[in-house]
Formats: sequence, C-alpha cells, structure tokens
Amino acid sequence: MKVLITGASSGIGAAAAARFARAGWRVVLTGRDEPRLSAVLQSLPGQGHSGIEADVVDWAEDPKQIPDFGALDAMVWSAGICQLAPGMLLRRKVIRETLAINLEAPLVVTSHLYRSKALVDGARVVWLGSESAHEAGEGFSVYAASKGGLGAAARVLAKEYARRRVALHCIEPGTVDTPMTDALIEQFDGLKDGHADNMENPESVADRIYQLCQE
Ligand SMILES: NC(=O)c1ccc[n+]([C@@H]2O[C@H](COP(=O)([O-])OP(=O)(O)OC[C@H]3O[C@@H](n4cnc5c(N)ncnc54)[C@H](OP(=O)(O)O)[C@@H]3O)[C@@H](O)[C@H]2O)c1
Repeated sequence: MKVLITGASSGIGAAAAARFARAGWRVVLTGRDEPRLSAVLQSLPGQGHSGIEADVVDWAEDPKQIPDFGALDAMVWSAGICQLAPGMLLRRKVIRETLAINLEAPLVVTSHLYRSKALVDGARVVWLGSESAHEAGEGFSVYAASKGGLGAAARVLAKEYARRRVALHCIEPGTVDTPMTDALIEQFDGLKDGHADNMENPESVADRIYQLCQE
C-alpha cells in the first residue's frame, strides 16, 4: 500500500508519515525544506519510502510538474500555511499566498491525481481542514476563509469521487501542537489563552487520518 503525504516535513504531515510507515505502508513524502524532509524520511521504519522536495504552488500552476507517483492507495494533504492578518491590514499578497497553498493546490493536485487515475479506485484522500473554518479568533480571517473553502469543496468532490469509490475526507482539528502553532504563539502571545492548554498532539491527528484510510 502506498500513500502520498504533502507537508510531510513537519507537524501533522510528519506524524502521519510515521503512522503509515509503522503500519507497513510505503510513504511518498513531500515538502519544501530539504533537510527537514530528509530527516523525516530517514526516521521512518520500513522500506520503499521516498521524499520529493517541491512547492505545491508550482504543481497547481502547472500540473505537468506533478511527479508520476505511481498507483496511490491514499493521499494526505497536510501542506498548509497560517499567516495572521488583522482585519485592518488585509492585503492581496497574504490572501493570494494563503489561498494558493491552502485551497488552490489541494484542489488542483487532487483533481489531477484523480483524473490520471494515480489515485486508484477505492483510494482514500484526507485533507487537513481546520476548526477555524467555523470558529476562529481575530487575525485568522484569511486562514479561516481558506479552510472554509476547502471544507466546502470537499463536500462536493466527495460526491463526485464516490463514482470510483474514492473517499475524500476533510478533517477539521482544533489547535494542534506543531511548529505552525509554535510560530503563531511566538507572534501573538494572546493565543496561549485558552489554546495552548487544550492542544491535540500531532500523533493523535495522525491516528485519525490513518483510521480514515482503513475504512
Ligand atoms: N497546527 C494546528 O493547530 C492545525 C490545526 C488544524 C489544521 N491544521 C492544518 O494542518 C496542516 C499541517 O499543519 P501543521 O500544524 O503540521 O503545520 P507545519 O508544522 O507548519 O507543517 C506545514 C507543512 O506544510 C508544508 N508546506 C507549506 N507550504 C508549502 C508549499 N507551498 N509547498 C509544499 N509544502 C508546503 C511545510 O513544508 P516546508 O516546511 O518543508 O516548507 C510543512 O511540511 C495545515 O494544512 C494546517 O493548516 C493545523
């Protein structure tokens, strides 16, 4: 069994890579940061894993750049960014960057993998949405919009992909203890209130992702 995991160089994606590898899957990891990607790759148990250094925005802009992954039994889309943008300082740059990575790229790449049948009939796809789509603090409007869009798209695509029994799930975790959250807390100390005490660990999110790929 083979799974493609984007955003596997850090956080939830890295934890998911470990979870699948422990269960005997071959894992294709992608990320931009080569040293961190290699470190995750080296840490995985089992054999047949590979790492691809790439920016998912390049794939979305030109799907011909999407590598040939061979047959995939599952895909986990964890690549994502979260930039705080106060409502009075919204600029197209942060909106475009966030939507390009968090929304356009998973839609275009998943569509390509479905169309090309790289995702086999009966494959499992899990996108990382966020609870922020429904309830988020100040500064999260752009991120919330990207994740809200992702969830909305997933509900429609799940129906279309069911024709080939490809199951698409968009999970929506609350705050997870990852480098993304560390960076946000560093930027905005107020996030600690009510969030830092209630964080889920990336391994438990990875377990949920793995279970969805078993159903
Ligand atoms: N942390 C949370 O509280 C939380 C809660 C709900 C949902 N989520 C979602 O879960 C996912 C993973 O988050 P995380 O907390 O694990 O974050 P993280 O530790 O910052 O990891 C993000 C991953 O996304 C990759 N990535 C970002 N932009 C990319 C791009 N343009 N091309 C390729 N890869 C890119 C990063 O790769 P490089 O570092 O190699 O560039 C990294 O591997 C995200 O979609 C996030 O929105 C997070």
